[in-house]
Amino acid sequence: MMNIIVAAAEDGAIGRSGDLVFHVRGDMRHFKELTMGHTVVMGRKTFESLPKGALPGRRNIVISRNSGFVADGAEVVTSLEAAFEAAAGTPEREVFIIGGGCIYAAAMPLADRLYITEFKATAPDADTFFPEINAQEWRQEERSEIFTDENSGMNYVFVTYCRRRGEKYISEP
Ligand SMILES: NC(=O)c1ccc[n+]([C@@H]2O[C@H](COP(=O)([O-])OP(=O)(O)OC[C@H]3O[C@@H](n4cnc5c(N)ncnc54)[C@H](OP(=O)(O)O)[C@@H]3O)[C@@H](O)[C@H]2O)c1
Repeated sequence: MMNIIVAAAEDGAIGRSGDLVFHVRGDMRHFKELTMGHTVVMGRKTFESLPKGALPGRRNIVISRNSGFVADGAEVVTSLEAAFEAAAGTPEREVFIIGGGCIYAAAMPLADRLYITEFKATAPDADTFFPEINAQEWRQEERSEIFTDENSGMNYVFVTYCRRRGEKYISEP
């Protein structure tokens, strides 16, 4: 099972100047609960944005074209395909693609499931975006209640999509 996990604003924004667009404690908790014990795959820039380096309790795989890149607590591979090959060595762990924009775009056609945190806000000064979720390819499986961040007052929702496989898509009227 290959999962993508992302937190995105209404306009698809996910990053700004190498950082997240919003820091929401409930979203961080959700991310940790879902990924703990599993394999996380990320681009080199996302790895460098992690405040405490490699994520504890998870197998960390970092993708860089620079095979000499050293990432403490993580394995470095030079392509997405190499990341999947490496992850296949621990089939008991699920794979979570955790960003950023370049890696999401490359992984989207290959993913089975999307875990999206939808922030009910826009981020006009963002510079990194999540690809569009095509309803012909993705079926919404679950949508949580609306949560409110205690610090910012911003609302957000957890949504899960799974890839449509061999099922007929009927567009909504
Ligand atoms: N909201 C969220 O859920 C979320 C999650 C994660 C990240 N983000 C945000 O996203 C932004 C970072 O995203 P980004 O797109 O700039 O960077 P990124 O995807 O994290 O990393 C890009 C780097 O990955 C490597 N890479 C990408 N494609 C590759 C390929 N096909 N083969 C080999 N290596 C490849 C390259 O590393 P080298 O240059 O070393 O070759 C490239 O510079 C930050 O602002 C971060 O905070 C948001």
